[in-house]
Amino acid sequence: MQAGIDSQAGPGAPAKTSLDARQTSTAPGLRLEMESVSLVYQAGTPFASRALNEISLVVEPGERLGIAGPVGSGKSSLLAVLAGMEAAASGRVLHDGREVGGKNPPAPGSIGLAFQSPESCLFEKTVYDDVAFSPRRQGLADGEVRRRVEEALAATGLDSSRFGHKSPFSLSAGEQRRVALAGVMAVDPRALLLDEPTAYLDPAARRELIARLVDLNRRTGVTMVMVGHDMQELAAFAERLVIIDGGRKAAEGAAKTILTDVDLLDTYGLDPPGTVVLSRLLSVATGRDIPAVTGEEEAVGLLLRLMADGGIMSPP
Ligand SMILES: Nc1ncnc2c1ncn2[C@@H]1O[C@H](COP(=O)(O)OP(=O)(O)O)[C@@H](O)[C@H]1O
Ligand SMILES: [Mg+2]
Repeated sequence: MQAGIDSQAGPGAPAKTSLDARQTSTAPGLRLEMESVSLVYQAGTPFASRALNEISLVVEPGERLGIAGPVGSGKSSLLAVLAGMEAAASGRVLHDGREVGGKNPPAPGSIGLAFQSPESCLFEKTVYDDVAFSPRRQGLADGEVRRRVEEALAATGLDSSRFGHKSPFSLSAGEQRRVALAGVMAVDPRALLLDEPTAYLDPAARRELIARLVDLNRRTGVTMVMVGHDMQELAAFAERLVIIDGGRKAAEGAAKTILTDVDLLDTYGLDPPGTVVLSRLLSVATGRDIPAVTGEEEAVGLLLRLMADGGIMSPP
């Protein structure tokens, strides 16, 4: 009964931006790989702590991978190592088969990492200059810099003509987050790593950002890895999911398989998507065997079908 409904599609139509023009010049997504990677903070001191423990992971070019796990489980650490920004204590990190980390930085402009608190990275006088910082360092001509800035701001839902001249410090937390994200996107990386990018955004803006990210991934083939705390959001974003717990990989699989495994999610203190809860409640209420749905559009379709065939009463 679920045929024809794409549970991976974000809610609402993905917003179109002029980023279309970019795809022709963008190389396909980067392949990311971790081979038995461990990470120790403050190694060799009494405060040494192991944040990642022998994690192996492959992110295929153009894939959208979601990462979930309890607070302190190592999600942000994993992104930093995967980006080649934090050197592993043991194991290897590979970008397109080339080892990175420590003395081997990633290829310039190949990877964009949006930190968990990207606002703290804002420093220029205007929003425009902040987003233009990396494209200028890439040595691009002014016209190309302007195009990148306008497109990146639009992709995060900000109008360059309205926000470009403002000070980043005069913006709301949600707007600052968008500017910081635009700064990462303006690099036009081959892999985009996003650490809880929807924090501080209101529900409508969260949906819109996820839909824009999915749209960007589909059009350009950029590899995306997103750490998320909201399972409904991860359902809208991810094709595949990894759960991290205590610095170890606890589970990995198709997003739908993981997100409908309520017992597995519960083991790691994660709430199932609201749509999965809804489909369970409907099963109980109707006495029917209703499959768990992970997409919001899919859930609406399910409700409409149940109402149409008298399975549940339609509203008065
Ligand atoms: N710079 C650091 N120095 C020392 N310990 C850290 C540092 N960053 C994170 N940690 C520790 O590593 C563990 C994993 O942290 P983190 O990757 O931020 O988890 P998550 O993003 O899942 O909340 C936590 O125990 C945290 O306290
Ligand atoms: Mg984190």
